[in-house]
Amino acid sequence: MGRHIFVTHSPEKTIELGRRIARQLRPPVVVLLIGELGAGKTTLAKGLVAGLGAASEEEVTSPTFTLVHEYGSASENAQRVYHVDLYRVETPRDLETLGLEDLMAERAVVLVEWGEKLGPAFRAPWLAGRLVEIHLEAANDTERRIEFHSPDETSRSGRAKRSDAGNQKKGA
Ligand SMILES: Nc1ncnc2c1ncn2[C@@H]1O[C@H](COP(=O)(O)OP(=O)(O)OP(=O)(O)O)[C@@H](O)[C@H]1O
Ligand SMILES: [Mg+2]
Repeated sequence: MGRHIFVTHSPEKTIELGRRIARQLRPPVVVLLIGELGAGKTTLAKGLVAGLGAASEEEVTSPTFTLVHEYGSASENAQRVYHVDLYRVETPRDLETLGLEDLMAERAVVLVEWGEKLGPAFRAPWLAGRLVEIHLEAANDTERRIEFHSPDETSRSGRAKRSDAGNQKKGA
């Protein structure tokens, strides 16, 4: 898959892009959604969850207050998707606390908003090749730049940048 850059001009186009990216995902996989407040992480998640067939895009809402939403549990055959929001997490949350390893054993897709807050946990050897990074940036009110790194790419580059990005505060 490598590295891809997309530009969208509406929330609907971002959802559509999420649906397309979903087709490339091979569970178990962790998808880090990295970008500022309002960058479009939840909007893209709507498309990813819908594209994976786990729920409709309307059912996907921000897990800001609950930390994690689960989709796809209603049907035996549906892809299980966990949607995590680490915004309120103060210190780097380790994979053990999140139970990420168990979710991976379920062959789930785990979407993580503010994914950079996972901290050094990124380096867990068992995650190698199972990590997709998506960086989102608002160019203006309606334009979003969305950069996608596939597992192979992620395992080779970009480590240092991530830990720096973890300390930002929303609305500060
Ligand atoms: N091209 C676009 N793609 C996605 N969202 C867009 C776009 N243009 C405008 N928007 C608006 O930007 C906002 C994105 O909000 P969203 O909740 O997806 O961001 P977020 O990154 O999840 O924010 P938070 O950090 O609060 O979780 C929405 O209000 C959406 O309507
Ligand atoms: Mg969000």
